[in-house]
Amino acid sequence: MIKADGKVFFLNTKSTTYAFRVMETGQLEHMYYGRLINCDEPSVLKEKRAFAPGNTITYDDAHQDLTLEDVRLELSAIGKGDLREPMLEVVCADGSTSLDFVYDSYEVISGKPEFKTLPSSYDESGKVETLNVTMKDKNHGFTLILSYSVFEECDVITRSAKFINTSDESVRLTRMLSMLMDYDHPGMKITSFHGGWTREMNKSDIVLPAGKFVNASFTGTSSNRCNPLFMISEPDSCEESGDVWGFNLLYSGNHYSATEVSSFKKTRVVYGINPQNFAWDLAAGEEFEAPEAVLTYSAAGFRQMSLNMHDFVREHITRGPWKKKERPVLINSWEASYFDFTEGSLLKLAKTAKNAGAELFVMDDGWFGDRNDDHRALGDWDIVNKKKLPGGLEGLSKKVNDLGLMFGLWVEPEMINVDSELYRKHPDWAIDIPNMDHSEGRFQRLLDLCNPEVVDYMIDRMSEVFSTPGLSYIKWDMNRNFSDYYSKYLPADKQLEVSHRYVLGFYRLLKTLAERFPEILMEGCASGGNRFDLGVLCYYPQIWASDNTDAVSRLAIQDGYSYGYPQSTYTAHVSACPNHQTLRVTPLESRFAVASFGVLGYELNLNDMKSEDIAAVKAQIELYKQYRKTLQFGDFYRHRADNIYQWSIVDKDKSTSVSMLMQREIVAGDQYLKLEMAGLDPQTKYHFFGRKLEYNVKGFGDLVNTVSPIHIKQDSLVHNLVAKFVKMPGEIEDYVAYGDTLNSNGVKLVQSFVGTGFNEEVRYFPDFGARLYFVEKAE
Ligand code: DGJ
Repeated sequence: MIKADGKVFFLNTKSTTYAFRVMETGQLEHMYYGRLINCDEPSVLKEKRAFAPGNTITYDDAHQDLTLEDVRLELSAIGKGDLREPMLEVVCADGSTSLDFVYDSYEVISGKPEFKTLPSSYDESGKVETLNVTMKDKNHGFTLILSYSVFEECDVITRSAKFINTSDESVRLTRMLSMLMDYDHPGMKITSFHGGWTREMNKSDIVLPAGKFVNASFTGTSSNRCNPLFMISEPDSCEESGDVWGFNLLYSGNHYSATEVSSFKKTRVVYGINPQNFAWDLAAGEEFEAPEAVLTYSAAGFRQMSLNMHDFVREHITRGPWKKKERPVLINSWEASYFDFTEGSLLKLAKTAKNAGAELFVMDDGWFGDRNDDHRALGDWDIVNKKKLPGGLEGLSKKVNDLGLMFGLWVEPEMINVDSELYRKHPDWAIDIPNMDHSEGRFQRLLDLCNPEVVDYMIDRMSEVFSTPGLSYIKWDMNRNFSDYYSKYLPADKQLEVSHRYVLGFYRLLKTLAERFPEILMEGCASGGNRFDLGVLCYYPQIWASDNTDAVSRLAIQDGYSYGYPQSTYTAHVSACPNHQTLRVTPLESRFAVASFGVLGYELNLNDMKSEDIAAVKAQIELYKQYRKTLQFGDFYRHRADNIYQWSIVDKDKSTSVSMLMQREIVAGDQYLKLEMAGLDPQTKYHFFGRKLEYNVKGFGDLVNTVSPIHIKQDSLVHNLVAKFVKMPGEIEDYVAYGDTLNSNGVKLVQSFVGTGFNEEVRYFPDFGARLYFVEKAE
């Protein structure tokens, strides 16, 4: 609910309040963002001032008590005494750079308006309200509209800003961020997510007593170097307690957030498009929209912050027919055969996958032009490789459909290889600087999406590909960071607009195709998670989280995503061992356990697997389908993230829960483990049980001789023969308990193997061992 009177503004969600006021001088003073409060006037919230401190700039002659350097603001530019990070920077026609925005008016509207140029959140509940505050620049007459949308149910407020050039002359924006917010104290903890290819979303915490911390990407994308998602918290906050503020941005290009502690010990946060290598010219009458920033506050730690973000993403970001539809279990050809396939080999893989229970077959890279490696053919989407696919896309699609599988396809529409028909025809369509040496990335260049002709061309090409009869899924890849920023379409004085114009072109491409082909399930990908953000999630409901399919690496990666993104948005595949990215060997069951906490798929040559492993895969897929609704759309809880990782997911109706436990390394003699649980209904009686599995005796090595009547030499023929017929029984866990007990105590599990004996009351739990546990309402 929004309470506004032109002097004070209160934005209330279910459990939070955001408040600011108009100061006597017209600036907006931020007063409060925290727990829901019952307050409608500012006397106890606003800061009191009588004299400005020495060595500061006072706002004007009439207000010698006021220095903007020491006010908590909603908006700030440079030139009027605020020395902290600004939200805006401009160069005016007269060369001056100072802005002086003061309050003009406000409106409250019902609903969530769409952005004109960028993706935006939306509302179907009818419960969202939006506040637009108009600010006027006293120096040049520019207008800035600050927008606040209040999503009561999920405790989220989104913010954005629109700059309108209401002056008579042109202006150059050199920084145009989406939001600015000030806290009244220093020493806050910033949690952000860093990494690179195959190591996305590593969580990092830093406490900031002074100075500045910047979380920014410059890959041209939202980037695997650092995701736009970040959190600010009181330093003693943890999963279940403490004040935590979460931030995310609907933007897929270079982003920037800076957290700065001022000399007066206030902490400022600014957030939006990265100003580095950015400028945007606005002629009189033109406007610029900054991307939407998402804010949530939790008084109950990181867990509640994540639950808020998850609900917001599920309800107000992802859209279309796949929003709440269970996602199919897929088999992807990439790690199964890379570029080396034929129609026959693909169909063989598809058939085995179908028998194991898969529902969707995805042909990855390598199906067009002369694409037998990654040096050529990107751009040639109209040339199907007939040597590999004699019946074309349509022929393969039909055969895959005839097996009873959905058919899916990989594309990388934003790229061009120099060795391609498209480049030979249109060298001017690549982003590179004429007559200069060019840097390469995976032997490919970016297409110039600043040029509307290129976007139109790609809409046409992709529409042809997407119209393949029987096609139900697209994996949209993007494998290159930006370099040699230059659009041959734009004049010299507009080259600083390239990175943002590219993103706008990309969004037009995606939006047009998503609207034209709503039934197609789209999965984003950018060398894994190099463009994992809320902007693309407005068009694709899921994204390939990482090219790293190793179950142990995936623990930290998926744990990282879980802070801001619900599990239905990140996909996870079971792949071969030794793993192709790390060479690590992990049990098949562990690979499944971790992957089933994202959207599950398989990406390996099933035909090379042992029959008992294929049987295990079949059982896994069957189990996954049984709990798929809970796993994909339930509430996600993080419990532990150290040597033991533990997650659980509870169905929205609290009838079912699934838990995953994985151990990275055995600690000798450490025999007791407790499975933690949360989110169950305290009054409901539940049945708790583990998955009944059997283990290969070879996992016990020559300990087999402690029970064998004859001596067995390890790895001998006899050992292999025994292993074929004799299985070691897995432990049994089967209990009944009320939700309050499970939430408060968890479950004490049977003891781990500690070297002194083994039976059904002992957990066989080697390095990288994992378990899935289930909870269902007891009858
Ligand atoms: C990078 C992707 O992340 C992989 O999954 C795969 O699709 C390759 N590109 C194909 O070139």
